[in-house]
Amino acid sequence: MSLMLAAAAIAPTPSVFAPVSTPAFAIRELSFLVLAIVTVIFVIVAGLTVYAIVRYRRRPGDEGTEPPQVYGSTQIELAWTVVPFLIVIVLFLTTARYIFAIERHAVPAEALEITVVGNQWWWEIRYPGLGIVTANELHVPVSDAARPTPTFITLESADVIHSFWIPQLAGKTDVIPGQRNRTWVEPRTPGTYVGQCAEFCGVQHAGMLLTVTVHSKDDFARWVAAEQSVAADVPEVRAGRDLFTSVACISCHTVRGTPANGVFGPDLTHVMSRATLGAGVAPNTPENLRAWVNDPASLKPGALMPAMKLSNDQLDKLVAYLATLR
Ligand code: CUA
Repeated sequence: MSLMLAAAAIAPTPSVFAPVSTPAFAIRELSFLVLAIVTVIFVIVAGLTVYAIVRYRRRPGDEGTEPPQVYGSTQIELAWTVVPFLIVIVLFLTTARYIFAIERHAVPAEALEITVVGNQWWWEIRYPGLGIVTANELHVPVSDAARPTPTFITLESADVIHSFWIPQLAGKTDVIPGQRNRTWVEPRTPGTYVGQCAEFCGVQHAGMLLTVTVHSKDDFARWVAAEQSVAADVPEVRAGRDLFTSVACISCHTVRGTPANGVFGPDLTHVMSRATLGAGVAPNTPENLRAWVNDPASLKPGALMPAMKLSNDQLDKLVAYLATLR
């Protein structure tokens, strides 16, 4: 299954012209202003060009004669210097105003604080105040005007530069190793919104998708409660669980409630609650999960998780165990 298909199964193509969040509304407003100004410039320039072509085209009898030659005009040169300069000043000041308004937005007491860590090629998502760690699928509450609950996001990188972008919620923000960048979203409409790493970061840059699910406040509270729970001990799949904790899985993955506490790969405590595998490259179905554990490169060439080299019987047991991590 291609990336586009997997992403399209979740939500329509993201567009900066369909904002649902405060910073994205501001970005669309600014885009319309810039588009209006450049449209006026285009109409004037194209109109004058067409006028000159028609008005001064070659006519019968023009052969061998040159039109009057003009050498320098202070007035025209001043006009085509000063007018563009003023336009640039206007665009610069307006853009700066929008940027500062977004960057200096106060953090209200009700705000949710989360940390997103860019990894080759997936996103770790931490909710420090709630004790939740998940991956690739962000969940946030809807924010209403009466009781705003925006989500403020601290961005970190585990390796190279990535860029965090959910077009309908906020502008791009670079994710830089050794630096903490901040962005925020304030979604007004529940739904699922698609995002994408927006800075080339290696072979699977295009396979570094993320989704943001905006819940009503009650639904968000339910999601939080479900994610906070630790993995249940299901006797029927204990063989798979023992296998999971005895092979290399646990050096990279955490399953809360078991000895597995690796941090290189995604937290799997509630892996089955996620819609996709490999940061959006494939729907999270039992067949795909089995294919992924057997050899991640079959679904995501270049993925840093190694093929696990398990027998069919071991794969069955392991996948049966993973399937209980809801
Ligand atoms: Cu991460 Cu591109």
